[in-house]
Amino acid sequence: MSDSPARRILVTSALPYANGSLHLGHLLEMIQTDIWVRFQRSMGNECYYICADDAHGTAIMLRAEKLGLTPEQLIDQVHAEHEGDARDFLVNFDHFYTTHSEENRYWSERIYGALRQSGQIVTKNIIQAFDPEKGLFLADRFIKGTCPKCKALDQYGDNCEACGATYTPNDLIDPVSALSGAKPIHKESEHYFLDLAQSTQLLTEWINSGRLQSQVANKLKEWLDAGLQGWDISRDAPYFGFEIPDAPGKYFYVWLDAPIGYIASFDNFSKARGLDFESFWFDPKATELYHFIGKDIVNFHGLFWPAMLHAAGLREPSAIYAHGFLTVNGTKMSKSRGTFIRARTYLDHLSPEYLRYYFAAKLGPSVDDIDLNLNDFVQRVNSDVVGKIVNIASRCAGFLNKRFDNKLAATPDSALLSALLDAKSTVAAQFEGRDYNRAIREIIALADRVNQFIDEKQPWVLAKDPSQSDLVHSVCSEGVQAFRILISYLSPVLPEMAAKSAEFLNTTLSFKALESGLLPAGHQLNPFSPLMQRIDTSQIDKMIESEKADAPAELTKPETQSKAQSQTEIDKIAEEIDFDTFAKVDLRVADIVAAEPVEGADKLLRLTVSLGDSERTIIAGIKSAYDASTLVGRQIVVAANLAPRKMRFGVSEGMALAAGPGGEDIFLLSPDSGAKAGMRVK
Ligand code: 2FM
Ligand code: ZN
Repeated sequence: MSDSPARRILVTSALPYANGSLHLGHLLEMIQTDIWVRFQRSMGNECYYICADDAHGTAIMLRAEKLGLTPEQLIDQVHAEHEGDARDFLVNFDHFYTTHSEENRYWSERIYGALRQSGQIVTKNIIQAFDPEKGLFLADRFIKGTCPKCKALDQYGDNCEACGATYTPNDLIDPVSALSGAKPIHKESEHYFLDLAQSTQLLTEWINSGRLQSQVANKLKEWLDAGLQGWDISRDAPYFGFEIPDAPGKYFYVWLDAPIGYIASFDNFSKARGLDFESFWFDPKATELYHFIGKDIVNFHGLFWPAMLHAAGLREPSAIYAHGFLTVNGTKMSKSRGTFIRARTYLDHLSPEYLRYYFAAKLGPSVDDIDLNLNDFVQRVNSDVVGKIVNIASRCAGFLNKRFDNKLAATPDSALLSALLDAKSTVAAQFEGRDYNRAIREIIALADRVNQFIDEKQPWVLAKDPSQSDLVHSVCSEGVQAFRILISYLSPVLPEMAAKSAEFLNTTLSFKALESGLLPAGHQLNPFSPLMQRIDTSQIDKMIESEKADAPAELTKPETQSKAQSQTEIDKIAEEIDFDTFAKVDLRVADIVAAEPVEGADKLLRLTVSLGDSERTIIAGIKSAYDASTLVGRQIVVAANLAPRKMRFGVSEGMALAAGPGGEDIFLLSPDSGAKAGMRVK
């Protein structure tokens, strides 16, 4: 029995933006965190799970405007939706607050004040693109134009999806505002910067402290080695956020007050609960602090955040746990394929515990991406949870109820049950280390042993022979004792099933409770009721269909993730050309004979295509929508008489024709079957 005092732990997951629905990518993180928090509590630790909506920024302001709402109305609506979605996925936040709160204003001003006091805030005039119609400075992703390198139309202000070139919006030919279509002007304004270089030593120690996953530490080291740049923490009005004290018309950039929202949310919660806030944020010896985040935001949490905390005398995080992205069926989530699955759509068709189990079965401690393969999902949940775990209880419960008054027999000297109990420290260490997939493998291997034991004893056969009644009682009791141990191990993952099982077993289920060993002989059970239904694949099909039919145009993260939002907002009108110009383009049917990602380029695939009598290499900006391995053997249409173009990653000898706004929504054009490579497209 462990006598060590309970740990006191505060846990956060990243704050979702308050401008769109939660999708399964958000749920991957919330479920990963929730499992960890439930595990800690199951061990008897004091553990709080805090989150909030990330409610500030230009994207939220623009979205509210588009919907005819005030930003406050929008963030209130979204808050209620997010809270409901998380709850229905059994994500058990202690508090889900908002960054648009008085506590957050207080802590943002306090941390900013401390940074300024210690000379870490500097001001600098910068020149930025400005939309004269909207009266707004334009972030790079709100500017479009022609690529200065390959002349592809309709490219965003930071890089070209066609040739992979990176540049600044100033380099674009014919730039326009993605918001109004107006030609941006250049405008100067004063910005506030956090002079991160002053924290170089602090951050070097932090990165080498062993509190970060090695892949994350290596990435951060690269930035550190390159020399830390000042971080622009101000935005000019109009902006939805907190005005910077003594700087009228200047606002804190959303990413400054977002992580401070962790503190503010806990502040609000601890006041309501009478908790000692101070020990969690100022005393790293008394408490632990963990941030679960996605790998795309490690710079904010791994560099800026420790520098901010330090300036204000707040504690460092005990660790930051980053996870990878979620893919569905091997590719990026896609609205057109119906795999950009919103939390609510999933819940309309499937039980949250299926997904909790599947994510747990896939998640490990690294930042590797996680794939939700929908066939594998159905197969694993049905075979592991229903076929192996639930099966143990349902095979034994009926006999105990009908013949033995629902009371357990003694099961002395059971090697099987000892082995199951002995696994506790291994399984606990796996949960602690976020090695959930190994914990699940271990638990399912134990379940296999239990099922094998029941198969060998065959209580259903023994039950026919009255002289074997004691044996039936002890075999079924052993099965139920085993079930209790296994469902205790799974309780952080499957809390609802664990609650139903606790009712049946007439006991509380936790890792801690297992310290007292088996249930005593004579223990009274309650009637057994079914614990989980099998998934029917038609539920998956219906979910995908409904997502395809309903997906709204905008579901993207602003500021850090994809650009699809502004992409759908603008459809650039092409310049008129005469027929002769058009007739010069030699469009041909081509067979893709090989396809591979272009090393070093995020968006490009290298296609080898056959035109019947010759082969060409085409470098195409379609990686965001296509997995190279799925393209081989497919027919496409290419512009065959383009002069070869030398690109950063090699020479491209033609262009593949595709339609769509970009991102995951790019659709290669294909001829009907029967077309032959080399045929002219008329
Ligand atoms: O990337 C995002 O979705 C941000 N809203 C995460 C913020 S996490 C924390 F810093 F608030
Ligand atoms: Zn280009």
